[in-house]
Amino acid sequence: MSPGRFISFEGIDGAGKSTHIQAVADWFRARGADVQLSREPGGTPLAETLRDIVLHQPMGSLTELLLMFAGRRDHIETVIRPALAAGKTLLCDRFTDASFAYQGGGRGLPLSVLEPLADWVQEGTEPELTLWFDLPAEQAAARRASAREADRIEQQDLDFFERVRAGYAARAAQAPQRIARIDASGTVEQVGAAVRAVLAGRYPTC
Ligand code: TYD
Repeated sequence: MSPGRFISFEGIDGAGKSTHIQAVADWFRARGADVQLSREPGGTPLAETLRDIVLHQPMGSLTELLLMFAGRRDHIETVIRPALAAGKTLLCDRFTDASFAYQGGGRGLPLSVLEPLADWVQEGTEPELTLWFDLPAEQAAARRASAREADRIEQQDLDFFERVRAGYAARAAQAPQRIARIDASGTVEQVGAAVRAVLAGRYPTC
């Protein structure tokens, strides 16, 4: 059986990534792939319980980081690795880059904490492609305002989200082969076309 594909989707809240995950799933299904969708924080019963806690209970930054990675470990072991071993195309709404962007960039936790923790928890499990939906914090906030009620992290101010955005930019600069920046400031059609262009470039024979 061919090895699976692990693709993650990232961006500040309101960037619109959730809309495009469905379109990417359709793109791969139309080419015969066995697609599985998941998300972080969450993706397993235990990690979904942790998600509920981390998004709604008050806590310090390091606790927030450790809960994200606790859920991630369970997700990797019980969902991601089995899916990849079964040859699936796993599309994940957020993964470790979100911890570097939010808890690193946004909360200010140092790379000296994040990097060893990520290595330890992931043990080599890493997306082969990450689509980063990038847009200014102000524009994302305007989009969020018209959506549902904000959770604990979404209630942060514009400066926080600009730091998160800078955190993503730093990750993308470190891993340019893996992380594809998508300009998310356009219409759904325009952003969708940019996503398809990346996919066609990456998977020409797919
Ligand atoms: P999100 O994908 O925005 O869920 P939804 O669209 O359903 O609200 O993820 C929830 C929040 O979790 C989001 O604000 C980003 C945050 N987050 C972190 O802070 N660190 C992480 O490691 C992950 C995976 C998410």
